[in-house]
Amino acid sequence: MSNVIGKVLVTGGAGYIGTFVVEQLLQKGYYVVVLDSLIYGGQGLDGLLGHKNLKLIKGDITDPIKVEEAINGVDGVIALAAIVGDPACQINEAVTRKVNYESVKLLVDLSIKNSLKRFVFASSCSVYGSNEHVKFLTEDSELNPVSLYAITRVESENYILSKNNLLTSVILRLSTVYGLSRRMRFDLAVNVMTAKAIQEGGIEVYGGNQWRPFVHVQDVARAFVVAYEASADKISGEIFNVGDTDSNYQIDEVARLIQEELPQTRIKSNATLTDLRNYNVIFDKLHKRLNYKTQFSLRDGVREISEFILHFNPEISDSKYSNLSTWKAIDQIEKFIPYAVPDLSDDERKEVIDTIDSGWLSAGPKSQKFEFQLKDYFQEDDLEIIPVSSCTAALHLQLLAADIGPGDEVITSPLTFCATVNTILYTGATPVLVDVDPSTYNIDLGHIEKAITPNTKAIVPVYYAGQAVDHTRLKAIAQKYNLLILADAAHAMGAKYDDRLCGTYEDSAAFSFYATKNMATGEGGLICTRNKEKAEKIRRLLQHGMDKDAWKRYSEAGSWFYDVSDLGYKYNFTDVQAAFGLHQLRKLDQFNSIRRSFGEIYDEAFKGDQRVQLHGLDPRAYYTRHLYPIVIKNAGENNSRNEFIDKLKNKKIGASVHYVPIHHHSLYMKRLGYKPGDFPVTDAIYRGLVSLPLYTKMTHQDILRTIDAVITSL
Ligand SMILES: Cc1ncc(COP(=O)(O)O)c(C=O)c1O
Repeated sequence: MSNVIGKVLVTGGAGYIGTFVVEQLLQKGYYVVVLDSLIYGGQGLDGLLGHKNLKLIKGDITDPIKVEEAINGVDGVIALAAIVGDPACQINEAVTRKVNYESVKLLVDLSIKNSLKRFVFASSCSVYGSNEHVKFLTEDSELNPVSLYAITRVESENYILSKNNLLTSVILRLSTVYGLSRRMRFDLAVNVMTAKAIQEGGIEVYGGNQWRPFVHVQDVARAFVVAYEASADKISGEIFNVGDTDSNYQIDEVARLIQEELPQTRIKSNATLTDLRNYNVIFDKLHKRLNYKTQFSLRDGVREISEFILHFNPEISDSKYSNLSTWKAIDQIEKFIPYAVPDLSDDERKEVIDTIDSGWLSAGPKSQKFEFQLKDYFQEDDLEIIPVSSCTAALHLQLLAADIGPGDEVITSPLTFCATVNTILYTGATPVLVDVDPSTYNIDLGHIEKAITPNTKAIVPVYYAGQAVDHTRLKAIAQKYNLLILADAAHAMGAKYDDRLCGTYEDSAAFSFYATKNMATGEGGLICTRNKEKAEKIRRLLQHGMDKDAWKRYSEAGSWFYDVSDLGYKYNFTDVQAAFGLHQLRKLDQFNSIRRSFGEIYDEAFKGDQRVQLHGLDPRAYYTRHLYPIVIKNAGENNSRNEFIDKLKNKKIGASVHYVPIHHHSLYMKRLGYKPGDFPVTDAIYRGLVSLPLYTKMTHQDILRTIDAVITSL
């Protein structure tokens, strides 16, 4: 037993080559850990899996947690896992880079951190690319990669070599592999040509005279074991071509060799060159330095595959035999990550069904229960809590309750949703905009006083993304000029300032339970105020100005008579909404804390990046992270923000912009006389503003994918 370096991690150990590497290591007495996502199925480990020295960790090499788990306690690594082959790598550049390069960096870094003694890396002779002018290529020849696959191999090689003083590593550049394996591939030249010769009676040869070295899969596996076991002075920081100098063939020669073995084969030449690779390689270094010689010839491989095909007649077009088809399927199912998704479960589903069964669809017992639950949430006895049909309704009602109307002015900020301003206009009052703070994107408190006139009645601070504004300063201004603070807290359910829940310290505050909000009831909103009189008025106005709601009229204890005393609206909350709300509210604090932790992961990932500006955090605020806004710096010059969003979309990442500022919309330009450029801080933010996906159902993988997509799209 050769157990100098006894415990080995093989990434991609269930793969075409990996299966033989694992088998040979086990035969030699090694303890083997396989990290493999099993995307081609588990056949690669058939007959091996029960072995007492083998442990399989099913997982992705891009997942740091899985890699850490797999690397823990091993002595060395044989790194095989990758998206292999030019066509498969072409499908999704971002995924290829992540799997074929970023994961190698991760593995190398963790190998160094864990003081591993050996790192053997699977590269490819494709790094020589189109190199016909050099007759025979050696490890020192110039590289000319012509595909993304080869580029990711070169980049990985360079990274590994750059760490050579910290890790004993060796790189193997493989010839084009052929031969039978438990995890079979019929997308490799020799394998597919032999199979087609039998199943279709003919082979189509594209181009024909391009050179390529070939090597049997079991010979390759042995090269990995040999390199793994070699003494460090022979291999450290070295690159070896793996194959045999006599096994360089032109493609039409391969076809002829197959024809010799299977004489009925027709060869059809097609002049179209589908593969630019052309290289003829020397393999002396591996032979001389490590006394390695291949044991299989191309003819052996053709015979072995012929027998297999004749015996089993496999469906060679099955996607499991092709890296391209397998990765295409993965790419198609690789899900779109939208910018927001509500977090609903069976609780809500059952409650909605119960509501349907109850017969109360509009305001009824569940709405009342929800109101009690809200009261319990805010824990303030004298706080009036009024669920309404939307935050828009809430904003409108709190203005009406404050008697705001024609001739009055209401101050707010331009980086908000149109509802903030529309509701002011509904009352007949005039919205007056004040630019935002460049860090928090909330109203700039330093500029408010300049906008105050004798007609100013109220300030509507927007708690952008769920981060409340500095209330001490805002309140001082409001008191000085006798103004009301009527917050647009649409994003801020559960948010706090100086440890006090938003909604408990303003004159009133309006929250949203819209579908994408931190707690969602589809459509829905809430008003909180301590003013009893105003609360009463709001309760009247939200149901046409009537003195009784439906529950008081239609329930067993109710009576039919009612009076309409004010001109009101139809803004009531419903039991269908409450069915969602009852469960969403229970989970709200947990949702907010998940969002906050996701926000921190993003912050950490982007914080050193000079290309983006992150949302400024106010340490006094408990921020609900309703949105994750980034601002792309210098986006204005070439409008790269829009391009950036398109790039994210191509990578199946949804993004949005919050918001098109108020003074950029035609309505407000016409009605209020504002125009783009009027609020320079908002304008500058808007030029580069993007909201990244942030929702509680995101997986760690989704966040990593988003981070990766952002970094590679900037
Ligand atoms: C800042 C702001 N205010 C008001 C609203 C209106 O909320 P709702 O859709 O519940 O009416 C929204 C909704 O997105 C918002 O983002």
